[in-house]
Amino acid sequence: MTKTDFLVIGSGIAGLSFALKAAKHGKVTIITKANEDESNTKYAQGGIAAVLPEAKDDSLEHHVQDTLSCGAGLCDEKIVRIVVAESGERINELIAWGTEFDKNKSGSFDLAMEGGHSAHRVLHHKDITGLEIETKLLQQIHQHPNITLHTHLFAVDIITQHHMGVIVKRNTPGITCYGAYILNTKTGKVETMLAKVTVMATGGAGQVYKTTTNPVIATGDGIAMAYRAMGKVNGMEFIQFHPTALYHPGTYPSFLISEAVRGFGAVLRTIDGKEFMQRYDERGSLAPRDIVARAIDSEMKKSGDDYVWLDCTKLNIIEFKKHFPNIYNRCMSLGIDVAKDCIPVAPAQHYLCGGIKVDEHGQSSIQHLYAIGECSSTGLHGGNRLASNSLLEAVVFAHRAYVHASERLEFIHYNEHIPEWNAVSPREVAEMVLITQSRKELQEIMSSYVGIFRSDMRLKRALERTRLLYEETEELYNRWEISPRICELRNLINLSYLIIKAAMARTENKGLHFNVDN
Ligand code: FAD
Ligand code: SIN
Repeated sequence: MTKTDFLVIGSGIAGLSFALKAAKHGKVTIITKANEDESNTKYAQGGIAAVLPEAKDDSLEHHVQDTLSCGAGLCDEKIVRIVVAESGERINELIAWGTEFDKNKSGSFDLAMEGGHSAHRVLHHKDITGLEIETKLLQQIHQHPNITLHTHLFAVDIITQHHMGVIVKRNTPGITCYGAYILNTKTGKVETMLAKVTVMATGGAGQVYKTTTNPVIATGDGIAMAYRAMGKVNGMEFIQFHPTALYHPGTYPSFLISEAVRGFGAVLRTIDGKEFMQRYDERGSLAPRDIVARAIDSEMKKSGDDYVWLDCTKLNIIEFKKHFPNIYNRCMSLGIDVAKDCIPVAPAQHYLCGGIKVDEHGQSSIQHLYAIGECSSTGLHGGNRLASNSLLEAVVFAHRAYVHASERLEFIHYNEHIPEWNAVSPREVAEMVLITQSRKELQEIMSSYVGIFRSDMRLKRALERTRLLYEETEELYNRWEISPRICELRNLINLSYLIIKAAMARTENKGLHFNVDN
């Protein structure tokens, strides 16, 4: 059994930026299930949206209005205003921690344009903004004496009264988090980590779908853990599909062609060369993501094609290479010369707008459990996230959670009565093919029935099919020795259930949720 003031689960932008601040007030332990930098953060391309004081043709109010309009009337306006108002301070902190955002010749920030934004306001580091932020944050983390970062530790469940034999229901008042049970993937043992404050920073859940831009670690573990512990979760029907993932069968996850490329002037065309976005929205290729993804999906269904074209051939290629070296090189490596060839693109799952329901301080419905970053549902995104608002939300809520938690730290005590993980042994050795096959089946079901377009029949079928996978997996989970693979499958099934149920419950089409029977 180990003890730490702050247990941070996840080493993306949310977890790392929280840790750097909390370390002023106590001992911080970060655990992460893969290599230290593996995260959605690492792959972020376009950048981070913010209106800085020097902006001439933009205002905080414009950023607020764009966020609200993109969110399809479902954002929490108070939260939107908080996030936008605090964006400047958080950007300055990222810069102080070493992040370099590109500047133009006059020395001011080179701001990019993305879908749904009414002005150029996206700070970026070429087209590898996430890698730049992740690298610089990790450098700071390694220098901090109060922070310990452990890789390849997998959080299985958070600890609550339930583990002391108390019956906990979803509406039980005072559910409290005392830390987490952590699987050491090297020894195969589950360790107990007690914490005064536990922070869920576990990121998204793209692996629920067959086609996603998210890396394989994005299995929604934090949301499943919070839900199993009877915490509140919401907004799960709002799955964001990025309109322009590179169409390249056999590559998994999908490589993203940043929205900033359309902000730079690229246009979408059907395979026969016709522009089509104006028929769907007057903002054309730069309409919000839900609209563009639905339009592409409709065009692909009409023509029977597997992709549409993203046409960059009219753009200044020298400038293109400077802005998007990562995208340029990836395309070239596949024989696509963006100066002459159009890029084949198709929508892919990209972001989860819902998650663990939190208040304005990032506090979940479970005491001493905070949730920040993509695993949380703050109210910022509503029915559809505005491009580049995710990295911003993560740093703003990491800060707010840190302030709230550190002010309370001295009044929180370890619970010394927590039992060790209840492992019944000996357990059977897992037959991996059963896990990998179930994961693939789940991804097929969710992609076919709970994708961009849904219907009552599809949702019903998805629920029935996933119920079977649930029953099979629970049985294996109770019989087999524990492994990250079986835990992830279990979590993915939990997430799918939450997505399907939320989609069934929403009877009007809003933002990213579109049921053809509504
Ligand atoms: P992540 O960065 O995903 O980190 C989650 C961490 O939790 C990881 O370290 C993971 O290993 C760990 N973890 C998960 N489960 C467990 C467990 N059970 N035990 C231990 N550790 C665990 N957003 C923008 O705003 N701008 C962009 O330009 C942008 N571009 C994007 C491009 C791509 C290709 C992708 C995939 C996303 C992009 N996004 C962008 C979204 C944004 O990157 C993410 O929403 C954001 O980085 C999430 O940060 P996070 O810290 O919440 O989670
Ligand atoms: C992109 O670069 O298109 C991704 C931006 C985002 O997800 O916010």
